[in-house]
Amino acid sequence: MSARDITVTVNGIVHRHAVEPRLLLADFLRGTLGLTGTHVGCEHGVCGACTIMLDGDSMRACLMFAVQADGAGIETVEGLGKIGHLNPLQQSFHEHHALQCGFCTPGMLMTATDLLKKYPLATDDEIREGLSGNLCRCTGYEHIVAAIRAVVKEQAR
Ligand code: FES
Ligand code: FES
Repeated sequence: MSARDITVTVNGIVHRHAVEPRLLLADFLRGTLGLTGTHVGCEHGVCGACTIMLDGDSMRACLMFAVQADGAGIETVEGLGKIGHLNPLQQSFHEHHALQCGFCTPGMLMTATDLLKKYPLATDDEIREGLSGNLCRCTGYEHIVAAIRAVVKEQAR
């Protein structure tokens, strides 16, 4: 199948590439753009490790083809902050020990970013429901919820 030209804006930078129609968005971000912070676990929409923001909503990058994102604005975990300049959510994950192996963390952060944008005063139940599509095999979730709760409390001040 012949390649198609797409244009996407990722973390504020415009990228133009010719991609195979079968190329998954997750593989485009990781392989073509080198943004390996977006992790790939299950590749069928279950684990949430590949979660990104697409035009302002969280989305599974393993459930879309790159061509479907043509014209879209994408945010990946690399766009949140950097070492030494973490954003409040990343800083809170750090302070609350909300990760162990870190495999789920980019997806957790992007899901929480969407949650806090839509529910800035989220209750614990809303936080748990918001995270229910993201799997973590290490933490038992309590520290992740605590990290997000701390950001909510800060936002409420
Ligand atoms: S890799 Fe996309 S949901 Fe698991
Ligand atoms: S920290 Fe290891 S899977 Fe979540």
